[in-house]
Amino acid sequence: MSTPDLGISALGNDRLDRLTDYPFTRLATLLSDVRPRANVEPIMMSVGEPQHKPPAIIDETLRANAHLWGKYPPVGGTPEFRAAVGDWLTRRYSLTAGLFDAETSVLPVSGTREALFLLALLAVPQSKAGRQPAVLMPNPFYAPYEGAAQLAGAEPVFLSATRETGFLPDLDTLTPELLERTALFYLCTPANPQGAAADAAYLARAIGLARRYGFILAVDECYAEIYLDTPPVGALQVAQSLDHGGPNNSKGPWANLLVFHSLSKRSSAAGLRSGFVAGDPDLMARFSRLRSYSNAGMPLPVVAASTALWRDEAHVEENRALYRAKFEAAEASLKGRFGYYRPDGGFFLWLDVGDGEEATRRLWAEGAIRVLPGAYLARNNPGEPNPGASFIRVALVNDTETVAQACAAIARILA
Ligand SMILES: Cc1ncc(COP(=O)(O)O)c(C=O)c1O
Repeated sequence: MSTPDLGISALGNDRLDRLTDYPFTRLATLLSDVRPRANVEPIMMSVGEPQHKPPAIIDETLRANAHLWGKYPPVGGTPEFRAAVGDWLTRRYSLTAGLFDAETSVLPVSGTREALFLLALLAVPQSKAGRQPAVLMPNPFYAPYEGAAQLAGAEPVFLSATRETGFLPDLDTLTPELLERTALFYLCTPANPQGAAADAAYLARAIGLARRYGFILAVDECYAEIYLDTPPVGALQVAQSLDHGGPNNSKGPWANLLVFHSLSKRSSAAGLRSGFVAGDPDLMARFSRLRSYSNAGMPLPVVAASTALWRDEAHVEENRALYRAKFEAAEASLKGRFGYYRPDGGFFLWLDVGDGEEATRRLWAEGAIRVLPGAYLARNNPGEPNPGASFIRVALVNDTETVAQACAAIARILA
């Protein structure tokens, strides 16, 4: 007996159908019929998962706090966690002593991915300026931004971030019509995948727009601690120096602003699922209310381990030194080719290889090197090319020797 066609498509929320498969699922499909040469050990450079040994602090603190596994975690973590984050932000971004109130401006998150996603539910109203709300994001972008915008019922607006725009969205292209209906702007600095860091003037402008047009500026700073020479400037750092007095901006220095930080890259601890969101205390109070309905909370032993990690800089410096060595190794074979440049932050190479998908297939077939086509991290706006199409993203997460060997192979295979 055939099922009658009632005109109903998939069961459930059809907004999910507006999303493509996740980038790594698309990669698996692209490579499903490609077999790497026999006897070659695969080198995985597609996922941004640091391979350095996680710091011993994690094990030690988890063990010392094992008696807390039985407890439901509070949404806000512990006072010790909030204080460690507040002290870290104050040190890292030279915030005026006492300006940042960690008690009202910090929430732990089980990986920033979930918080970046949930944020859209906090940010997107039914309508804004009488129209469908817009969520702005760079293009290319971290995939959950788009998922969040779609699932929250907003229109995702993809802002080209190409070599011509300094690999960041060009704020001059944003029209008042768009800004008026913008509910949320995801900005990633240093950017994944291009590694460009916004400077203070850029961030000041973005914060100014958020305040003028009444939207949330979410600054994803999860690569802020992986830099080669100069620490990238942060959004809180810039916000503290802006004029926040006056009738329209009486909400304090962090008004309209949220920043996201993670231990996944800083502490090579992607499996710990630990990060935080910080910023505008009014937004944080609303986020806390939303999270108490929706989130499991960060287990207290993990909160304790995270507290210890935010208080320790030695392992982060060691980490940076390892990445520096890897960039030098990469540079030995890739400098002057495929538009190679040293990113301001992060650990990705963003190489212009002509056809990213084709290069990805060749690298897998001929070198057992797995990279990600740039097209899978971007969308094409109508009438425009996909800004990632000619690129591959290469994650320098393996040990230096493997990175050196892989980059030499990339140069040879794609020559
Ligand atoms: C730009 C960006 N933001 C956020 C995340 C999420 O990191 P996590 O959920 O591990 O904190 C990632 C992870 O790759 C990322 O690349």
